Amino acid sequence: MCGIVGYIGRQKASTIILEGLKRLEYRGYDSAGIAIQNDGRFDLAKKAGRVEGLIKATPAQKLAGTTGIGHTRWATHGGVTDANAHPHISSDQKIALIHNGVIENYASIKKFLVTKGYTFQSETDTEVLCNLIAYHYQKEPATSEGSRFLESVRKTLRHVQGTYGIAVMCGDCPAEIVAARKGSPLILGVGDGEYMLASDVSAIISRTQNVVYLKDGEVVHLTAKSFSISTLDAEDVSPVIDKITWNIADAELGTYTHFMEKEIFEQPAALENTMRGRFSEDGSTAQFGGLNISAVDLRQVDRIHFLACGSAWHSCLVTEHLIEHFARVPVEVDYASEFRYRNMPLGNNTLFFTVSQSGETIDTLAALREAKRKGYKVLAVSNVVGSTIAREADGGVYQHVGPEIGVASTKAFTSQILLGAMLGLYLGRMRDMSFSDGVEIVKALKGAPDLVRRTLEQAPHIKAIAQRYAHFHDFLFLGRLSLFPVALEGALKLKEISYIHAEGYPAAEMKHGPIALISEKCPSVFFVSSGEMFHKVISSMQEIKARKGPIIAIATEACELPEGLADEVIRIPECHEAVLPVVATVPVQLLSYYIADALKRDVDKPRNLAKSVTVE
Ligand code: F6R
Repeated sequence: MCGIVGYIGRQKASTIILEGLKRLEYRGYDSAGIAIQNDGRFDLAKKAGRVEGLIKATPAQKLAGTTGIGHTRWATHGGVTDANAHPHISSDQKIALIHNGVIENYASIKKFLVTKGYTFQSETDTEVLCNLIAYHYQKEPATSEGSRFLESVRKTLRHVQGTYGIAVMCGDCPAEIVAARKGSPLILGVGDGEYMLASDVSAIISRTQNVVYLKDGEVVHLTAKSFSISTLDAEDVSPVIDKITWNIADAELGTYTHFMEKEIFEQPAALENTMRGRFSEDGSTAQFGGLNISAVDLRQVDRIHFLACGSAWHSCLVTEHLIEHFARVPVEVDYASEFRYRNMPLGNNTLFFTVSQSGETIDTLAALREAKRKGYKVLAVSNVVGSTIAREADGGVYQHVGPEIGVASTKAFTSQILLGAMLGLYLGRMRDMSFSDGVEIVKALKGAPDLVRRTLEQAPHIKAIAQRYAHFHDFLFLGRLSLFPVALEGALKLKEISYIHAEGYPAAEMKHGPIALISEKCPSVFFVSSGEMFHKVISSMQEIKARKGPIIAIATEACELPEGLADEVIRIPECHEAVLPVVATVPVQLLSYYIADALKRDVDKPRNLAKSVTVE
């Protein structure tokens, strides 16, 4: 949420920062801005709207310096206006600042600063931070300008409550940037004679693969030739330089129109990457290198508690079915945002898992900290190496699906479900699951990429259906057991990118209220699979049909649907229960994508949303 880019080096900073902002735009796209050092002054350009609008409105020759900062905003405090866009400049013109996060005590600081003569142009909490740094800078004894600047940032941050990832410039220090984080991600890119700051690696990978993942409470001081990291109390920190494994092509569209489309079609490869090296040699179980918990301790666990938000929460609901079914271990799934404030009794041998694609979702991070505070071991499933959740967890599993840039989660979701099945298998095999059942599940999991590939071949058929149904205003998504969370995910996908109202329910629950919505104006998307639930789902479909509700059935190949019951049928391969939820997800991803595209929605940047929600 909010993209931050900073550059210091020998190149023209604005070119690099604007490119970085374009790559980071998925983190927030209400407004964008850039400030470049120019001989003790700041060249500033900022504008409500997209980065493209900023680029068009900014004459390139105006922004010529080699040190600068840029921002793409997801509004929290203050509306979407040019004035509220970042960077902000202090009223004495000394300090320029960009900020990701929320300053909770901004109102009292603002009151204080007004008494000291500082003035404000915007309604943001960020401008308060900027003026407070200017205030401390004026008060700070003039040793070398650099350390005075650094110390004024430290002093300011010791006074603020809330979360921040900031990058700051000072007019008196033309070749320096100070940056810091607490609760909002910030990464330092270490290039060849240059440094970059960014809120995630996609803004950096075109220039360097060497990065330092800054930790909460750390402050980095950059000059064109060196960097140093310290704490708010001025203690030195030795930096650890990591290597990013993604490459630039992973973060580019290639031949696709949208990242969401690219990421849906990347799923076979993404699932292969999630599984690579994670099956035992005898082919009867899964194995994980980074769980950091012994088999003996894992065997003692008598309850697993999953915490996540949004699509990741849906993936946990699928995992709940799979673990309970394969390993017979009871599973709880909570919204991370609710868990933090609930006062639920927890057992002694409970193991926690947080699941987060970005690894930065603040509610999930806070829930992780709460579970750790209570003395529990917390593991994490995350896609982003070095993310805060991955680092703060006691151990975990990386998804390895490459960067997910479309705001609507797709490949990360199916990879999380696949990992859920693998965890169920792993825990099952250390309990009562037989060797042959294990072998069968491993075989099924290894076949998932191919089944997804076959399902993707339905894309033209699904596109044609989407075009026929794009004018409807309400949809229901209905499934049973492990396909109920897939129904929730289908409804979420549709509403977030097409703005069509959609709800997901367990198919049988429909009779207890949602059936009142049914008419010829409200289509239902049903998941139908062969097996114990087949006839039950068919009965639910009959009840919809009797009330003239249009039906789109996503049915496995062997399901014989009664003549005329479904208006549209999307076939998916017959498959093992371990992979059915993965395969069944693909048609609803495609359906939502093509409906949103038919409605000419901004698929990758839907209104009001942002990837990676780093504010509470
Ligand atoms: C929906 C979506 C969101 C995220 C949620 C959690 O398509 O992407 O619901 O799933 O914000 O994000 P992570 O997984 O990064 O914690």
